[in-house]
Amino acid sequence: MQTAASRILLTGGSGFIGSHLTRHLLASRPQPQIVNLDLLTYCGNLSNLEDCSWQPNYRFVKGDICDEALLDQLFLDHEFDTVIHLAAESHVDRSIVNPLEFVRTNVLGTASLLQAARNHWKSSYAGKCFYHVSTDEVFGTLSDGQEAFKETTPYSPRSPYAASKAASDHLVRSFQESFGLPTKVSNCSNNYGPNQFPEKLIPLCINNILTQKPIPVYGRGDNIRDWLYVDDHVTAIDLILHRGRVGETYNIGGKCELRNIDLVRQLCQAMDQELGRPPAFSEGLIRFVEDRQGHDYRYAVDCSKVCLELQWQPSVSFAQGLRRTVQWYLENRKWVEEITSGAYQTYYERQYSLKLAGPGQIKGSAS
Ligand code: NAD
Ligand code: TYD
Repeated sequence: MQTAASRILLTGGSGFIGSHLTRHLLASRPQPQIVNLDLLTYCGNLSNLEDCSWQPNYRFVKGDICDEALLDQLFLDHEFDTVIHLAAESHVDRSIVNPLEFVRTNVLGTASLLQAARNHWKSSYAGKCFYHVSTDEVFGTLSDGQEAFKETTPYSPRSPYAASKAASDHLVRSFQESFGLPTKVSNCSNNYGPNQFPEKLIPLCINNILTQKPIPVYGRGDNIRDWLYVDDHVTAIDLILHRGRVGETYNIGGKCELRNIDLVRQLCQAMDQELGRPPAFSEGLIRFVEDRQGHDYRYAVDCSKVCLELQWQPSVSFAQGLRRTVQWYLENRKWVEEITSGAYQTYYERQYSLKLAGPGQIKGSAS
């Protein structure tokens, strides 16, 4: 058990889940010091943490988790006691187009981080923790009626994304077993909520409904996912980090299985209500399109371990979470517009070149 993580290296903090987790941890007591290491790839967005950027206990570093020299320097400079690793290539469709990028970031990147932690912590592992954030997709696919994934379910990844995450999970376990590195892993189901990059199902649909573009549903929309509101994932990570057992893995799920087509219809209804459109207006935008290659049919997560051991429960119902998400995207249209126009990618340069960074705030890559 680790009582308080005080000096945290958090990777991927400018992405979707990482930004929610960073904000949550920055507000916790006692306050940790957090260094967010993020390469700001296409899905990293500095504006996700704009409200936190001036906090004295937060620092952003633009850099690559595969950059061993940078990792070495960061460990020397900050004497981390905790790594929370979220940085990844995370979109299945992109992994089908470009698998090698996923191997580089998700496998090599995780190995580089593990190696850095091992090198810098080996004199004493006391009070140290390497927390790896992973996905339920490592378990493969389920048929109807098949038992939900447990922590003990054999890995059977089917997309390059899932395979690269599975490989990273195995590496984490191997560093625990071979070197005694204190590690924790969690495997979570599909997240949704504010700040999710609009290539994933829910924000993509929201944007297309808003702009009255076709809503692409793969195949017949029969595939099933288990959905969890992002804040509930963050709460589970916090609990596991501080109270979970070292060397364990925990499944996290929303207890909310939905067929894609049912989800999309629910979203259309919610959007029509918010936008004052006639009932069923947006459903007319649904188009069944060519299926994803190797499309996993069903994910379902048995999260009884984290529920029983750490008294965690999803607290946001899907209807509530969807409403909050829709409202956030409608109130933050500029966020999506800056993504579609590409302006978000100049945010770092604007901040950096304008020298807005106060002492210890924004730092360039050492590479
Ligand atoms: P995301 O794609 O929104 O964010 C990933 C972040 O990693 C981005 O900020 C990106 O710039 C950064 N990054 C990518 N490559 C990097 C590199 N080489 N060095 C440093 N930073 C780099 O992803 P997300 O949806 O927030 O997912 C975060 C983590 O949670 C991932 O590890 C993912 O596998 C896992 N996960 C996601 C979900 C989900 O539904 N989104 C579910 C379960 C687990
Ligand atoms: P996605 O959000 O990409 O997450 P994942 O592939 O990690 O589950 O997709 C969720 C589900 O929605 C998945 O079954 C694929 C499907 N999907 C569509 O039908 N249309 C789309 O445009 C996208 C992006 C996904």
